[in-house]
Amino acid sequence: MTGRLSIALRVNGQPRALEVEPRRLLADVLRRDLGLTGVHIGCEHGVCGACTVLLDGEVVRSCLMFAVQADGSEILTVEGLSVDGDLHPIQRAFVEEFGFQCGFCTPGMVLAAYRLLRETPQPSEQQIRRALAGNLCRCTGYTDILRSVQRAAALLAQQEANRAP
Ligand code: FES
Ligand code: FES
Repeated sequence: MTGRLSIALRVNGQPRALEVEPRRLLADVLRRDLGLTGVHIGCEHGVCGACTVLLDGEVVRSCLMFAVQADGSEILTVEGLSVDGDLHPIQRAFVEEFGFQCGFCTPGMVLAAYRLLRETPQPSEQQIRRALAGNLCRCTGYTDILRSVQRAAALLAQQEANRAP
């Protein structure tokens, strides 16, 4: 198509082939073209973290990237965390610890926590604070968010222990 470029992504484990205009942001393409409305768009200039996704396993702000820059990448959005409708332990922890109020910041928080806990399964309070420092919550629920990540670490450890032979 004129003015558009072909890109291929793997999004939440599914291959996706798209034709996008080079000017379009990754956040818009994920949200509007692929219907992944867990990609929230807040500030649109890299400050709030609402649009956080994992790109090849690393936290990125999808409002700061053009979709064409993600060509060939693996993307994880919050929708990719649950399996067969069951919430991921991190999502469960946020529910159990009241880690959200309006929920606008929550997908970004959850994905930042996912990235942290993958590498640091038992993080200190300071490590959690640092990992979430780029994600803003207007509802000022930081204490409950911190507690949610601590609970998530415990739930994941329990899950691991249950899996052990
Ligand atoms: Fe991307 Fe705020 S919408 S950082
Ligand atoms: Fe409302 Fe964080 S729960 S912005």
